Amino acid sequence: MSDPAAAGTTGHVVRVNGPLVEAEGLTRVAALEVLEIGTNRLPAEVISISGGLVTAQAHEYTGGLCVGDPVRALGHPLSARLGPGLLGGIFDGLLRPLANRSAWLAPGAPAEAGTPARWSFRPSVTAGTRVGPGTLLGTVPMAAGGIEHRALVPAGLAGTVDWVSEPGEVAEDEAVITVDGTPVRVVEHWPVRIPRPVRERLRLAAPLITGQRVVDLLFPIAQGATAAVPGGFGTGKTVLLQQIVKWCDADIIVFVGCGERGNELADALTDLEQLEDPRTGRSLLERTVVIANTSNMPVMAREASVYTGMTVAEYYRDMGYATVLLADSTSRWAEALREFSSRSGELPAEEGFPAGLASALAAFYERACRVTTLGGEEGSVTAIGAVSPPGGDMTEPVTAHTERFVRCLWSLDRDLAYARHYPAISWRRSFARDVEAVATWQAAEGRTSWALDRARAIALLGEADRLSSVVELVGLGALPGRERMVLLAGRLLREAVLQQSALSENDAFCSPAKQMALLELVLDVYDRCQALVDGGLPASAVEEFDFTPVTRARDETGPDDDEAVRTRRDEQLRALDGLA
Ligand SMILES: Nc1ncnc2c1ncn2[C@@H]1O[C@H](COP(=O)(O)OP(=O)(O)OP(=O)(O)O)[C@@H](O)[C@H]1O
Ligand SMILES: [Mg+2]
Repeated sequence: MSDPAAAGTTGHVVRVNGPLVEAEGLTRVAALEVLEIGTNRLPAEVISISGGLVTAQAHEYTGGLCVGDPVRALGHPLSARLGPGLLGGIFDGLLRPLANRSAWLAPGAPAEAGTPARWSFRPSVTAGTRVGPGTLLGTVPMAAGGIEHRALVPAGLAGTVDWVSEPGEVAEDEAVITVDGTPVRVVEHWPVRIPRPVRERLRLAAPLITGQRVVDLLFPIAQGATAAVPGGFGTGKTVLLQQIVKWCDADIIVFVGCGERGNELADALTDLEQLEDPRTGRSLLERTVVIANTSNMPVMAREASVYTGMTVAEYYRDMGYATVLLADSTSRWAEALREFSSRSGELPAEEGFPAGLASALAAFYERACRVTTLGGEEGSVTAIGAVSPPGGDMTEPVTAHTERFVRCLWSLDRDLAYARHYPAISWRRSFARDVEAVATWQAAEGRTSWALDRARAIALLGEADRLSSVVELVGLGALPGRERMVLLAGRLLREAVLQQSALSENDAFCSPAKQMALLELVLDVYDRCQALVDGGLPASAVEEFDFTPVTRARDETGPDDDEAVRTRRDEQLRALDGLA
């Protein structure tokens, strides 16, 4: 797309203030156009034009930049280079590859070094075919991850194929077909702030199975929906997101590490690399794209990174894949906005954030969807963002605005985390808006009691919470037997179903069938206990029963062994009958 010689104009630096650079002499330049500044060609984006004065935000450290340094306008907005070779890679916020692990702790390397990459290409169209936007024109068989790379006709191009290259190796800058004379390559550039077009947005239907019980059973997320994970310092946001990366049933994962600690991200990547993908038996990293913006990287690359990640997710969605985008954490990203707006002298709104904070958040989450692509395939982007409110204050602007835009909220509770109840997702403050669609899907999968069991679990958890505050006032002895059984059910639900260890081989992932079996284990045990108390057995006799086989079932049976859980249920029910 960019032929720098033909596009744009040149000028020179007149003022530098942190990441903010002012230039003069650029006569033909557009808002949001990309500039290259200085001899090191620092990338920057035009944010305001006033007469002859152009103000740009640099995406890198501006140390060493002088007044008079050259400025070049590239003639296009901030764009990502999309093509084969993204999977398994680690990139900076502008999608420039970070060559090795140690390098990605330093600012990104200058773009486009070395020779163009080569791919083996297999065309799927012949000369004379009529094609339109999104038509599959060929595939790049990838060794990695079992994911076929599909090259599509770009948006806005339609016509008749007049030339097709032979199957075999092509360089990324070579055309693979021409459509009415227009060359099409396997690599394309797309402006990251503009959503990629689709034919139609579809209603949400199937859930994204995460293998995490509290999510899949109580607060399920549909494919193409959005979720936020707000939680104070150390409450388990990163672990939860990484569990989803490892276990969710999406085809492609895009992980944006935004302002997180570099060593944490390094650990996570080593983890992913070692983890076997259940579908292919190979490293999970091979169907993952990682965008890293650790705390020591330039502030403005952080701001671009979530849109870059979204663009990559949309790119794979358009090939007909189910993709998941995870951002950890969106608060660090919002801080970049704040830092920047204070420098540019913008009038601050709530807590120093720019007035555009809400629309910036919306612009991100609104791009998640389930669609019919231009080429007629079904694809989706599910977006999940961690939010780290300073001091755990859930009323601060980023958390408050995010809550308005997402369809699921998995709110992490400090008290639960403190009590080592992981994942510390609060059943009081969390919500899920697609429960009905998910219930329909679960029923179609044969789990017809999913919705009813879920409703019972939520009601019991709420009632148990209420009763435990009553007990604090009046003591357990003052409660009737039936209510004491509700308290017991609350404890069993928490310990046998909701708690899930990310570190246990059996428990880290739980299949939907085992999830249901565990939930029904607790509900059936609870019903039997109520029946015993109704039959005249003192509540204390039931409470003294050893429930450890119930609470350990999740850890002592295989990740997909719902049968073993049901066997255990039958044993426990028989043992309880023995009490009478
Ligand atoms: N599901 C889990 N199973 C076991 N341990 C967990 C789980 N979730 C969280 N933890 C524990 O909590 C610790 C902190 O979790 P994590 O780093 O995810 O918190 P965070 O919210 O991302 O913190 P920060 O605010 O610093 O980013 C982990 O190191 C781990 O010991
Ligand atoms: Mg974290």
